[in-house]
Amino acid sequence: MKNIECIDLRVLELVPLDGKEFFILRLCSPKWKYRPGQFVMIRPISWGYDPFLPRPFSISNLDEDKLEIFFQVVGRGTKKLAELRPNDVVKVWGPLGNGFEIDESLPILILAGGMGIAPFLGLIKNHPYPENIEIVFGHRKNLSCYPLKNISRKILIWTIRDRSERDLLRLKKAIQVKIEGYSADGQIFACGPLPFLDMVHTVCTSKKTQLQISLERPMACGIGVCLGCSIPATSNKNFQVCKHGPVFRCGDLTTFCEHRGF
Ligand SMILES: Cc1cc2nc3c(=O)[nH]c(=O)nc-3n(C[C@H](O)[C@H](O)[C@H](O)COP(=O)(O)OP(=O)(O)OC[C@H]3O[C@@H](n4cnc5c(N)ncnc54)[C@H](O)[C@@H]3O)c2cc1C
Ligand code: FES
Repeated sequence: MKNIECIDLRVLELVPLDGKEFFILRLCSPKWKYRPGQFVMIRPISWGYDPFLPRPFSISNLDEDKLEIFFQVVGRGTKKLAELRPNDVVKVWGPLGNGFEIDESLPILILAGGMGIAPFLGLIKNHPYPENIEIVFGHRKNLSCYPLKNISRKILIWTIRDRSERDLLRLKKAIQVKIEGYSADGQIFACGPLPFLDMVHTVCTSKKTQLQISLERPMACGIGVCLGCSIPATSNKNFQVCKHGPVFRCGDLTTFCEHRGF
């Protein structure tokens, strides 16, 4: 059984990146050890019963001083998160799920689409050899919406704005070329919206390349109890994304393409 805690943490600060939609939430540190790709369920005390359920977020970074979440406002819960003030109290469950299996001696290719950058911020910050990491980052919004300033000083980052069919083809081409370059002796990690992951998965499968992929599903409990986040696995079983993932090896998800919409 993993060490999962439920803990009350104070808000240190909420940093708006674009003024209204993209934020970094900094909480006091729970001083956990975590693996990039793991996540927390969070629920501010001020929510009362509305919304009732906590919301899942990747641990963007976690050190002795702070826990960082990078989030986008998409609905009721995230809108309320964006109203938090310093010293407000947030209930946090974590660290949850399985993160990326990282071999620090091997080069890493990160393929991130939009908010899929979130789990990689801490990975890059804390990696002993960041010069061995390269990112292809596909995004729809302005680059200023994403917290790239610190990481772009450390690693090679290719950003491609994806707003038209033509951009999408450029992104696909860049991903194909990069995957080929890393297929022999690198590690490839991906996170992003489902169509993006689907494209990455298809390219990696055709090149017979290992890939670790982080999936998102709406979650109620985050610990494998409610079965609300189930997806089909290779065998006749289902996986719970919160408990068996959210990071999966692609070989375990051969049904991924058939069940794009899950
Ligand atoms: C493991 C995991 C890690 C995540 N990490 C991050 C992160 O680092 N930053 C971040 O901004 N978001 C992250 N998300 C997504 C985040 O949990 C949802 O955006 C959030 O729960 C929406 O809450 P809401 O109340 O604002 O929206 P709701 O009112 O609940 O929903 C608004 C819209 O968002 C959709 N939605 C809700 N949950 C999800 C989901 N899990 N995936 C896709 N669409 C969803 C709904 O279908 C609806 O269309 C993560 C999700 C998971 C499962
Ligand atoms: S969210 Fe409850 S089982 Fe995964």
